[in-house]
Amino acid sequence: MSAGGVLPRLEPARVAAEWEPAGATTVRAIFAPHPPHPRAVTQPSEHRQSARTVHIGVYHRPNRALRQREVCAMEQRRLAMAVTGAGGTRMARYVLSALVRDDRVGHVDLMVSANGRKLLAHEFGGAETDDPVSTLLGGQSPKVACWDPDREPAGPPSSGSYPFWGMVVVPCALGALARIAQGQANTLIERAADVCLKERHRLVLCVRETPFNLIHLRNMTQVTEAGAVVYPMIPTYYNVPQTVDQMFEEFTARLLGFLGLDQTDYYVWDVPGTAAHRERVGQR
Ligand SMILES: Cc1cc2nc3c(=O)[nH]c(=O)nc-3n(C[C@H](O)[C@H](O)[C@H](O)COP(=O)(O)O)c2cc1C
Repeated sequence: MSAGGVLPRLEPARVAAEWEPAGATTVRAIFAPHPPHPRAVTQPSEHRQSARTVHIGVYHRPNRALRQREVCAMEQRRLAMAVTGAGGTRMARYVLSALVRDDRVGHVDLMVSANGRKLLAHEFGGAETDDPVSTLLGGQSPKVACWDPDREPAGPPSSGSYPFWGMVVVPCALGALARIAQGQANTLIERAADVCLKERHRLVLCVRETPFNLIHLRNMTQVTEAGAVVYPMIPTYYNVPQTVDQMFEEFTARLLGFLGLDQTDYYVWDVPGTAAHRERVGQR
């Protein structure tokens, strides 16, 4: 499937829902092209030109209104990703690149905080005013829409009605974690995280700090109890990484797998057949 970057809308008259029996999670529907969001800082450069039939995820249970109203749905996963002001923004480059490469991901709403921009500039050697998408990907992607979380608090993931699958914050500063834990929703990052929790979407917080103080630990408990997953940026060691890049790659593969986007090339304990196992452990 081609990269989307577009919120597909179903034309009400053309919705042809075919619910499968018990526990069905797919519906067949016809998509019409939809223009890029007018307020995105970075616009997707391509969007679909013609209607077509695809399998989509379902956001509404079948009911009488299904055929009458416009239903938002997605054929590929729509994710939000935030970069906050913590060290390790290079991990964000690996993660965003992997999401963009993955055919199962149709769209990424990227949000970079002001401190995140500081860290990007510091760790990549650019300026705080640089376009984060270019910094992270080396160019634009039709899959990625970039939002300024301070100036665009009402960007798409600020609403529970927006059909996104979940959100990953990488790296997640402990200050950002604290605000999420307290339910502060002043910026688009905090609000999107808040929406994930209330809508029971997956929220994965890749915290980066060491050591943790009691406030950090309490906030981590608080977000975990609210439904988020604290996924610290701690590398694996048993794959015997030879380079820092391998650490980033391994973490990214594991993170995407955790997000439900299973990867093939990562180290599986005691399964020497995987490429990652051969390449990495074989080098010893
Ligand atoms: C240069 C710099 C490095 C930082 N590194 C970290 C870090 O590694 N981990 C962390 O939890 N906070 C770190 N901080 C603090 C966060 O940026 C701060 O708590 C901020 O409020 C995080 O949320 P924000 O990005 O949404 O503004 C750093 C700040 C600066 C200026």
